[in-house]
Amino acid sequence: MKLLPFHEYDLKTPRILEALNEASRSLAELKGFANSIPNQHILMNAITINEAKDSSAIENIVTTHDSIYKVLTESGFKDESAKEVVDYRSAIWRGYEIIKEKGFISTNVLVELQGMIEHNKAGIRKNPGTKLVNSKTKEVIYTPPQDEKEIRDLLKNLEDYINKKDEEVDPLIKMALIHYQFESIHPFYDGNGRTGRILNVLYLVLNHLLESPILYLSNYINKNKDQYYKLFTEFRENNNYEDWIIYILKGVEETSKNTIELIKLIQREMESYKEEFMTKLPKIYSDELLDSLFFEVYTRINYIEDRCHVTRQTAATYLNSLVDAGLLEFEKIGRESIYKNSRLINLLSQF
Ligand SMILES: Nc1ncnc2c1ncn2[C@@H]1O[C@H](COP(=O)(O)OP(=O)(O)O)[C@@H](O)[C@H]1O
Ligand SMILES: [Mg+2]
Repeated sequence: MKLLPFHEYDLKTPRILEALNEASRSLAELKGFANSIPNQHILMNAITINEAKDSSAIENIVTTHDSIYKVLTESGFKDESAKEVVDYRSAIWRGYEIIKEKGFISTNVLVELQGMIEHNKAGIRKNPGTKLVNSKTKEVIYTPPQDEKEIRDLLKNLEDYINKKDEEVDPLIKMALIHYQFESIHPFYDGNGRTGRILNVLYLVLNHLLESPILYLSNYINKNKDQYYKLFTEFRENNNYEDWIIYILKGVEETSKNTIELIKLIQREMESYKEEFMTKLPKIYSDELLDSLFFEVYTRINYIEDRCHVTRQTAATYLNSLVDAGLLEFEKIGRESIYKNSRLINLLSQF
């Protein structure tokens, strides 16, 4: 396998520069727009639910928003696919925490995130046998490096490239090369695709192209999945790095625009919800309570106690009044009493 930084490639072809221009502009717009929203946690929580679902779907782990919501409540509800999706979301949060704290993405971080997604401690591959096969024809598409030492050396080279501040190459182009290289190393037995896609967004945050991790290519990749697989191979076999980079840049452009739309929808939903809330229940309305109802797609009495600093009884009265007013739905999952924000869930599942 080739080592980064791939000096032999001209990364400034007219087609790349044109796509880069559009992608950078859309991403900057998303960053500015997201920063103008007061509660970043609401956005991140909502957006990462969809990303976790889409990224897992690329790997044929398919579930519904309703199951995800039930697993999120940690009420003992069991659904393996939904559990992997929820763990994927936790891995995004964990990665975000680490880079905010350390300002660095190490191989160990990738190992930790992959372990969270797969919930096992297998770590970097030690035994040979991993191959990428075409799921339909069963034909081998690609055999990644098999030797542990070689894999570790390649990861070290990738880690250096990720963390090196180099003004020569635009971070968006570097992200495209990093994704290609990471997937080609394929350091784990499983979970490489998902770990690699988390790495993409963390890389954007590391380079301050985004403040928080809210840009995810999985929906775009899902829609253009044949291309995704085909371009990996074309890059490797025919040196067609240009179409690969452009594919990723177009994804950044399209997804930035879509994410702005999604944020607007969430904002609008919150505004109309607020209006209805204030009209129907003026005595219990507060901004804090409204935020708590959108913080996650569901809430509980004790969350409201903590966030709004009220007694358990008051919190219960609030939530039950909201149910009566049609603003929340009550659901008993196992022994847990959960209040779900169905409007937010519907919005996310329809997007
Ligand atoms: N030809 C290829 N070369 C390199 N990587 C590839 C190729 N085709 C697919 N991939 C990557 O491999 C991922 C699947 O690997 P896998 O370890 O099963 O990840 P996950 O469990 O997250 O599905 C794909 O999502 C893609 O990123
Ligand atoms: Mg897999």
